[in-house]
Amino acid sequence: MTTKKKETELDRIVTEVFIGVSLIFLFLSKVIWKGIRQTSAKQLFYATFGILTIGVVSFHYQWHYLLLHNLMPDIFDYDVIENLHRNYHAQTKLSFLGVLYGIYFILNGIAPTLRFYKYQKALDACTLKNSKDQKPRVVAIYNEGEYFKVIKVWAYGIGASQFKAKESLLESTFLQQIEEIRECKNRSYLEIVLSNKDLPKVIQFEEIEENLKDNSTCIVGESKKGLITTKLSDLPHMMIAGTTGGGKSKCFKGLLYSMLRTTPTLQMYLIDLKGGIEFKDFDTLSNVKVVKTIDDSVTLLKQLKTEMRKRFDYLEKKGLEKLKNSDPYDQIILGIDEASVLYAKVGREHPDYENILKARELTEEIAKLSRAAKISLILATQKVTKETIDTRIQENITGRICFKLNTIEGSVRVLGNGKASELPYIPGRGIWQCGNEQVEIQVPYISQIDLRSKLNLLKENMTDKGYKLKRSMLGSEAKKDSTKTKLFRKSLKSNPEVQL
Ligand SMILES: Nc1ncnc2c1ncn2[C@@H]1O[C@H](COP(=O)(O)OP(=O)(O)OP(=O)(O)O)[C@@H](O)[C@H]1O
Ligand SMILES: [Mg+2]
Repeated sequence: MTTKKKETELDRIVTEVFIGVSLIFLFLSKVIWKGIRQTSAKQLFYATFGILTIGVVSFHYQWHYLLLHNLMPDIFDYDVIENLHRNYHAQTKLSFLGVLYGIYFILNGIAPTLRFYKYQKALDACTLKNSKDQKPRVVAIYNEGEYFKVIKVWAYGIGASQFKAKESLLESTFLQQIEEIRECKNRSYLEIVLSNKDLPKVIQFEEIEENLKDNSTCIVGESKKGLITTKLSDLPHMMIAGTTGGGKSKCFKGLLYSMLRTTPTLQMYLIDLKGGIEFKDFDTLSNVKVVKTIDDSVTLLKQLKTEMRKRFDYLEKKGLEKLKNSDPYDQIILGIDEASVLYAKVGREHPDYENILKARELTEEIAKLSRAAKISLILATQKVTKETIDTRIQENITGRICFKLNTIEGSVRVLGNGKASELPYIPGRGIWQCGNEQVEIQVPYISQIDLRSKLNLLKENMTDKGYKLKRSMLGSEAKKDSTKTKLFRKSLKSNPEVQL
């Protein structure tokens, strides 16, 4: 080989080594940077404590020089070490501590770096590109609360809709469920929110009961973003749907209890065509009335309609748009479990045909108009079709809790999409929809025994605190009248001289 050729070969080797070393340096600095960003103040404090301890011990036994000598005996021979020790003692110590910090940050940065590569690889597999043929790039990964991991992506020229169109592909490459794809303030960036872990399978009502503080509030359930509560004033009507065993009745009872607890002047009317079994514990409260037959349900709905009219007259007289707390009317809740039984589609020959028609018509009117009159409707049903729950009733229901449904069609009927059919088979697991927002929730569990004792406590509290309804319960006036009439008739019998 000629000298020139040898020089060229050497140049090539030197250049390659230089590029290799630079790349390693670049990679290590990236890892160190990630390690630094990953380190919390508390971790840094403990790391400093550990590093200084190692430093002090090493300096005492001269381990740092021994290490240098063992690693590179040709460079760090006795003379060099002696020279370092005499002339560069402080610098050597500082450099040693620096190296220890470097190792710590590298170790701390390896996991996030690998995570970055993992998500970047997953993102690349989705073949998203902008018009300049640039791929989206992962720029940050961080946790949001207990349940979410956020992947911040530089996606210049690639819209959220393009990411959303590839959502299921992204889920299969990320191997995690995507909760949300959201735009950042800086439109060049997007955030993909992944589910870190699933909701608990059971949440006890007691654990979250303390959140029932505000007036007219009720607990809906725990979502990954936190506890969801709602107010009757924000949400006049509600529907609870789901296949058998999903947890409708438990959820219904939890909501009713919440409302009774947070609304001292509340009149509650419950229709349970399963013979009143579900609501029997509520029936002991003076401000709750349970109705068990279709005949009685229609009578109740008629009474409610009359009451609604009365309230509208009052509003008109006072020039008000809706009832306020200061007005002399109580909040009314009408709860119907197994609503599809009350509105069942039956033929003309069915003995309840007329009653069912009437019940539908009355409920529709109440659902449509009662918002201003402080009358709220809660329906629970297994089946949601236009035959069971009239579309006009459905249109007026803003809040929906939908538990597992077996078919996509069923889910579409309640939520407008198939989410309820994709839910796992976990009692109490559902989708909460309020307006356009839909979130997965775990509804709190309340056992029959606990509910009974809570309702008893509520009853005692109401008596102790002397809570009084502003108006008497619907139907009680009629009852009083009939008692008076009976007495009058009795007195007539005993005194035949009195003529009517
Ligand atoms: N929130 C919950 N958390 C845990 N388990 C629950 C929850 N809700 C219900 N369950 C369990 O599921 C069972 C059925 O619940 P529930 O009676 O409320 O269902 P349902 O939807 O009303 O059924 P059906 O349509 O047959 O009346 C309960 O006995 C309970 O064991
Ligand atoms: Mg039920």
